Formats: sequence, structure tokens, C-alpha cells
Amino acid sequence: MAFYTVSNVENLRICVVMVGLPARGKSFIAQKIVRYLSWLSIKAKCFNVGNYRRKAGSGHPDAEFFDFNNKAAFKIRQKAAEAAAYDMMKWYEEENGVVAILDGTNTTRERRDWILKICRERAIEPMFLESWSDDTDMILRNISDVKTSSPDYEGVDPDVATSDFLERIAKYEQVYEPLDREKDKNLTYVKLINVAQEVVINRIQTYLESRVVFYVMNLHIRPRCIWLSRHGESVYNVEKKIGGDSCLSERGFQYAKKLPELVKQSAGDADLTIWTSTLIRTQQTAQDLPYKQLQWKALDELDAGVCDGMTYEEIEEKYPGDFKARDENKYEYRYPGGESYRDVVIRLEPIIMELERQENILIVTHQAVLRCIYAYFMNVPQEESPWMSIPLHTLIKLEPKAYGTEVTKIKANIPAVSTYKEKGTSRVGESTQDGTKYQNFLLSIPESKR
Ligand code: ATP
Ligand code: F6P
Repeated sequence: MAFYTVSNVENLRICVVMVGLPARGKSFIAQKIVRYLSWLSIKAKCFNVGNYRRKAGSGHPDAEFFDFNNKAAFKIRQKAAEAAAYDMMKWYEEENGVVAILDGTNTTRERRDWILKICRERAIEPMFLESWSDDTDMILRNISDVKTSSPDYEGVDPDVATSDFLERIAKYEQVYEPLDREKDKNLTYVKLINVAQEVVINRIQTYLESRVVFYVMNLHIRPRCIWLSRHGESVYNVEKKIGGDSCLSERGFQYAKKLPELVKQSAGDADLTIWTSTLIRTQQTAQDLPYKQLQWKALDELDAGVCDGMTYEEIEEKYPGDFKARDENKYEYRYPGGESYRDVVIRLEPIIMELERQENILIVTHQAVLRCIYAYFMNVPQEESPWMSIPLHTLIKLEPKAYGTEVTKIKANIPAVSTYKEKGTSRVGESTQDGTKYQNFLLSIPESKR
């Protein structure tokens, strides 16, 4: 995967150091940052100290293991932190990493000073990201969502696991030193209080740091869904032409008529907002949906430049070099006078940010744009996302969960042409690849935390 880094300009490497008691969403936030930055082609990776601790043989530790007076256990935990930091430094050096996330509790100032020192020795900018919460209900919810099913409690009764986990938190509380305005005034940090009810920011200096801060400030954990749909079949789709601003075909209008029923089936009485592009086919598709609607220019289809309005066959004939180049690197290829998938991702960034802030949204947009949005939620690599099959007349429901996104596909059973073009041919037709790899449930968290 090609990575272009914003930080090339700044020549910067950042280590985001997570801070906070257990069950404060640190891993959740860390994974989301990695996914967001990777989607933007910024090389990012998470190093989860808990995984190293398990590898180091902590077995199925009970709360006593996390007692800071437990010398033997403390040693194991220190070794795990060192192993994670070692791999992280290796990653910066050997793989030109840009943003690493050291995902651990890092609750004591002593531990944080140690991280600070090893970062500074290597000219890596440390940025502390604390998640602080006193919302007992939310913490209990987090424990039951993810902690009782953690490998630490394999085979343990959930009630026993919950009370042990609460004890584990109490052990950490005995030594916890939250980031402090006075004592930590020289550090770069962001502190999220009760998700993002209050946010404290200190010494954020670079563009990249401010992107991360802005992103985490917009995250929320209220339950919600995002629905995605391509517009109904268009006249251009039937004529095998790309781009343009054509109307829906007769079958496309049938889909538009059926969409309210599909949405109702999936969303029930939930309130939602519709986002469309500014092109006629998405607005015709959304015209019968009884919800508030908003048009976004950023949701317009990938601009095919000089090829707009042509069929793939005509493009192959008229611009054979371009046709081949696009197949060879579809993500990077930019149509003369038009856009590449990378360009689309960049213009979609505000859409993603706004999606993170919002609740229930239904997006009616286009094939390439949908691939980019889907890739963000499902962590699909750049070399694969432009080749994903996203058929017409299908409603996709994305449901963000603690450690991933659940996907449901609802077919309207209204026939439509396929606009999918396989690599190496100019014909469009039924695709042999259906992207099943990404369709069920994304688990973006480190394996041992699943
Ligand atoms: P541990 O230290 O035990 O690894 P953790 O702090 O990494 O715990 P997670 O495993 O990330 O905690 O917890 C996931 C849960 O936290 C999810 O249920 C998620 O909804 C919730 N969550 C996400 N963001 C926040 C936040 N800012 N504050 C509190 N909870 C959050
Ligand atoms: O064919 C429908 C369409 O939305 C075109 O307007 C657009 O150029 C194309 O899909 C994008 O798909 P691909 O990147 O596979 O050519």
C-alpha cells in the first residue's frame, strides 16, 4: 500500500500514548484513530500492551495480578510494556511508521516519564491521550460489552468476571495519576472527559496532532446506524456510460418507490437524515423518503474528466494507455481532468468527520464514493477498495459496535444492470467477486482482545 504522509511536510513521527483506567474506551479510540489515519494514507499502527502481557504468560490473571504491590506480576507488566515499546520503535525505523499508538493504561507519571524519555531519545513526538470517566453506568456497560468476553476471562461466569474487573479497576485507582493541568503543563496532551463532554487540550502543535484531536473530539458511543445505498439504476447505467447527470431508468424509479419500505423495515421508527449528492439520480432515488434531506457536493461521483459520458469500451479504444494504467493502479489513477479514488477519499474526509458526530444517517450516493465510505468503516485496504462490488438496488446497514462494524445487506429484488467492471476487461457484467470478505463483521481489534 502506498502511504503519503502529511507529516512528510512536517517530517514528524508521533506516538499517541493512551492513558486511563481500564474500561475507559482506550482500545476503542486507538483502533478508530488507526483506521481513520490509514484511510487517509497516513501510516499508523496500534501496539496494545495487554496483548504483550498475555504473550508474556500472564495467563488468566485475576485482580490480584494488577495490584501494584505484587512484585512478580509488576515485573511481567513492565516487560510487556517494554516489549510493546521495542516493537513500536522497530516499526518506526524499519517500516517508516508515522503515528504509533501505545495502547495501555499508562496510569502513573513514572510510566509516562519513561515513555517520554524513550520517545525523545528517538525524536518521536509523544502525545498523551487520556480517557477519563466517572460515569458508573457507562463503565459497567463497557465491562459487559467487551471485558467479560475478553481472553482474560475465558470460561469465567460473566458476573464473576464483572466483579473481578471492578476490583482490577480499584487496584489501578490506588496509583492512578490523571493528567494534570499544572504538573503536566509541558506535555502535549488531550484529555477526554466522559467521552467528549469536556475536552482539555494542551500544547497541540502540529497539523497531524490537531487532526487526531479533532477526530477524537467528534467521536461518540451512542447507539446508531448508518445506511448506504447507491442511486437507483440510471439511464447511463443502462447505456453502460460512466459519469454524467442522467435520470433514473424505469427500474431505478421502482427502487426509489421501494426504498422507503426497505428503510422502514430496517430502521423502524428511528429518526434519520438523508444525505444525497447534488446529482439528479441520487435525488430522484431519495425523493419519496419521508425524512429530512441534505445535499453534499462532496458526495458526487468520482469525476471521470475527459472520459465522462463514455462507456469503458470507448475509453479502452480512445485512451488505451489510460485504460490500462487505471486497471494497474485504480486507487491512484486520476482521469485526465478528473479524479482518482485518492482524490475522492480526501474530499470525503469532512463527510466522515460529520458522520462520526451524527446519529442515524442514510447516504444515497454513487459507486466509487460508496466504496470509499465503506472502506473507512470496514477497514478495506486501498488496493482492494476500488474493486469492491457494491451492487445497485441494495441497502446496506452499518451498525457500529464496540470493536467493529456489523453489516447487513438488504436486497430490493428489483433487477438492475451490473456496473461492475473486472480488471483486464472493458465489459461490465455480473461480478465474480462479491467482497464477502468484508461483508459480515469487522473485527478491527487485536486478535487476542476479540
Ligand atoms: P483496558 O484498559 O481494560 O484495555 P480500555 O480502556 O482499552 O480498557 P476498551 O476495551 O476500549 O477499554 O472499552 C471498549 C468500550 O468502551 C466500548 O464499549 C466503547 O463503547 C466504550 N468507549 C468508547 N469510547 C469511550 C470513551 N471515550 N469513554 C468511555 N468509554 C468509551
Ligand atoms: O458506472 C457507474 C459509475 O458510478 C460511474 O459513473 C463511475 O465513473 C463508476 O461507476 C466508478 O466505478 P469504477 O471506479 O469501477 O469505474
